[in-house]
Amino acid sequence: MSGAGGVGQMEDRAIISVRNLVKYFPIETGFLRRQVGVVKAVDDVNFDLNEGETLALVGESGCGKTTTSHCIIQAQRPTAGHVLFRIGDSAPMDLTQMEKAELKAARRNIRMIYQDPYSSLNPRMTLLQIIGEPLVIHKMVESQEALRNKVAELLRLVRLDPSTMNRYPHAFSGGQRQRIAIARALSLSPKVVIADEAVSALDVSVQAQILNLLKELQNQLGLTYLFVAHNLAVVKYEADRVAVMYAGKIVEIGETEELYTNPRHPYTEALISAAPNPDPDTKNRARIVLAGEVADPGNLPPGCAFHPRCRYAEDRCRREIPQLVEVGGEEGPSHRAACHFASELELAGISGGAEEPERERA
Ligand SMILES: Nc1ncnc2c1ncn2[C@@H]1O[C@H](COP(=O)(O)OP(=O)(O)O)[C@@H](O)[C@H]1O
Ligand SMILES: [Mg+2]
Repeated sequence: MSGAGGVGQMEDRAIISVRNLVKYFPIETGFLRRQVGVVKAVDDVNFDLNEGETLALVGESGCGKTTTSHCIIQAQRPTAGHVLFRIGDSAPMDLTQMEKAELKAARRNIRMIYQDPYSSLNPRMTLLQIIGEPLVIHKMVESQEALRNKVAELLRLVRLDPSTMNRYPHAFSGGQRQRIAIARALSLSPKVVIADEAVSALDVSVQAQILNLLKELQNQLGLTYLFVAHNLAVVKYEADRVAVMYAGKIVEIGETEELYTNPRHPYTEALISAAPNPDPDTKNRARIVLAGEVADPGNLPPGCAFHPRCRYAEDRCRREIPQLVEVGGEEGPSHRAACHFASELELAGISGGAEEPERERA
């Protein structure tokens, strides 16, 4: 086993601890593939995923969510940093230090579901083959009959008819295909599921069904979720905590309710403002338009990467990269933000924006 001595502690409740995670991609050019730059896809990311919780990882496209997820399961090897994983009372393992064979065993416990149920399911395989494949690879079944029984059980778990197991994915709707993907992800009884935009491609009504199913499965099976999404809309009722990412860094992390009502980073404020708001009290609040392009992780601005789009930016923001620091006070759960003015700005949360009419003109 690859121990995890000396790379930082895991918090008591953590099942996965991400420590100083970095993933840079070289930008190369020409026949000789000379390196001319670097894409800082993930740049010093730290968080704990607590056992049994749903942590949402949110940010616009290109901010590094998928790369972070892939570096956790080691589908991509990080440039630097550590991913500690612990089951129960056993000693933490550092996934980044593991060889392939060791990893295979550890990865039974951390499974991914992807956005596109059309391309992530092999169209030439039946449901039996798709859902059964991980069981066969990991030698978890001893006979064809045991395999069929297990797949039938998994289909029932995601509310699909077991008699459909000999059919192919094209016979199913988008929502049903995502159920198939969930059944496959759960086939090895994992502890952690990383859902990478798992409902983003689905119609809103189907999204709600899949979100409900995920919630039920979490309660039933005691799963821990890292729930990746590009906007805050689907996250509010799903997540216990939210981590907001921008240009490869976590810019704010805290409990969902706290982050929504009391955002401490201007980027979070803008994301909240952009999300549909069903609350009648604040329905007519002004929307903050996120001007400008999302930062290019291959060509980051100096200082705070968000400063070119930030309505509150000052000189310091153009020079100094803000650190992710505690803003929640000493009492109560942790709430951290990476903004030089995190404790000074009056930002609008879900119940705040309406009484500040000047935002309308901004
Ligand atoms: N294999 C790769 N080679 C070069 N750049 C990459 C690669 N994968 C991702 N990137 C870049 O890294 C950044 C983060 O990408 P990604 O993690 O997919 O973001 P997200 O999932 O939040 O949309 C983007 O700028 C993307 O273009
Ligand atoms: Mg992605």
